[in-house]
Amino acid sequence: MDKKSILIIFGGNSTEHEVSCKSVMNFIKNIPDDKYDKHLVGIRKNGDWVYFSADTALIPQCKWADESSNVPAMLMPNKGLVLLDGKNTVIEIDTIIPVLHGKNGEDGTIQGLFELCSIPYVGCGVTSSAVSMDKAYTKIIVDSLKEIPQADYVLVRANDNDDYIVKAEEKLSYPMFVKPCKSGSSQGVSKAENRRELVSAVELALTHDSKVLIEETIKGRELECAVFEKSGNIICSNAGEAVAGDVFYSYEAKYNNSDSKTVLNPDIPEGVNEKVQKYAEAIFRALGCTGLSRVDFFMEENGNVIFNEINTLPGFTEISMYPMMMDAIGYPIEKLMEELIDSAGISR
Ligand SMILES: Nc1ncnc2c1ncn2[C@@H]1O[C@H](COP(=O)(O)OP(=O)(O)O)[C@@H](O)[C@H]1O
Ligand SMILES: [Mg+2]
Repeated sequence: MDKKSILIIFGGNSTEHEVSCKSVMNFIKNIPDDKYDKHLVGIRKNGDWVYFSADTALIPQCKWADESSNVPAMLMPNKGLVLLDGKNTVIEIDTIIPVLHGKNGEDGTIQGLFELCSIPYVGCGVTSSAVSMDKAYTKIIVDSLKEIPQADYVLVRANDNDDYIVKAEEKLSYPMFVKPCKSGSSQGVSKAENRRELVSAVELALTHDSKVLIEETIKGRELECAVFEKSGNIICSNAGEAVAGDVFYSYEAKYNNSDSKTVLNPDIPEGVNEKVQKYAEAIFRALGCTGLSRVDFFMEENGNVIFNEINTLPGFTEISMYPMMMDAIGYPIEKLMEELIDSAGISR
């Protein structure tokens, strides 16, 4: 049997470039060479695409971008992967795996290019990626389900005047959480204890996105659910817990704080796991997601489950929850990789 030709894309023009360089190693290591021809394209921070064929050990430390063997590359409708090597070598691709987090990777933009090229790809389609990336649109869709609690919020746009301060102080109380609508890995997220901090938190968040959410603070533990979908069948993992070694689950706390930990079978009140799974599936369906997503919640002391956000291309680093939660329900990483490749699709 012919080997399937897989294009794995990593890096990206996003604040989560470094996370992608770590996530992708899980794919490179665990997609077997005897069944698949793996082709790697790295997207440099400035957006350049290069075909990468050097030692993959350079990737997790982000030392791959200037390798002399890199060849500029592009995806071209009706052609496939084209290497700008002087001969315009074309590599036919059967399936694309975008191991990209955040902007330009998880937001429907690159998925649009895959659609134009008619190449099946792993994960959510254009619309579900775009809506899930935008926390304000996600809230509206999840609100329409009527049954799933979320944090109260005020939306601020880049050109709004200072009215947001009045609106936020009327509706919410300090401390408030401020976050860019389209970001990830906690970049641009801050906790504001007072008006002065609110103003600087909004300013910071606006450097990441032109739309910002100010939310009430939810006091609770952070629970996550891995969702996998193939041919319309949806599987939800048990709830896992992310324990931040800091005041909140900031970028530092996620990736550089050894006090932060992930717990696979957290001690949670009866019924919470089922509720998390039920909500996660309902949210995944309502947003039109396909392939995979990680759905994140808060659990208050009284056991209330509150939806926080969805990640359509969740982290796959050594310390990331998605692969661990899937492993715990009978999808060890090699099997998960094959299932993800099998779940790839187009026009969804
Ligand atoms: N409303 C909130 N109440 C309490 N903590 C919050 C709230 N919103 C965000 N956080 C904290 O900030 C972290 C990052 O926010 P999140 O909405 O998950 O954005 P990101 O997409 O960057 O992960 C969360 O994991 C949590 O620790
Ligand atoms: Mg998050």
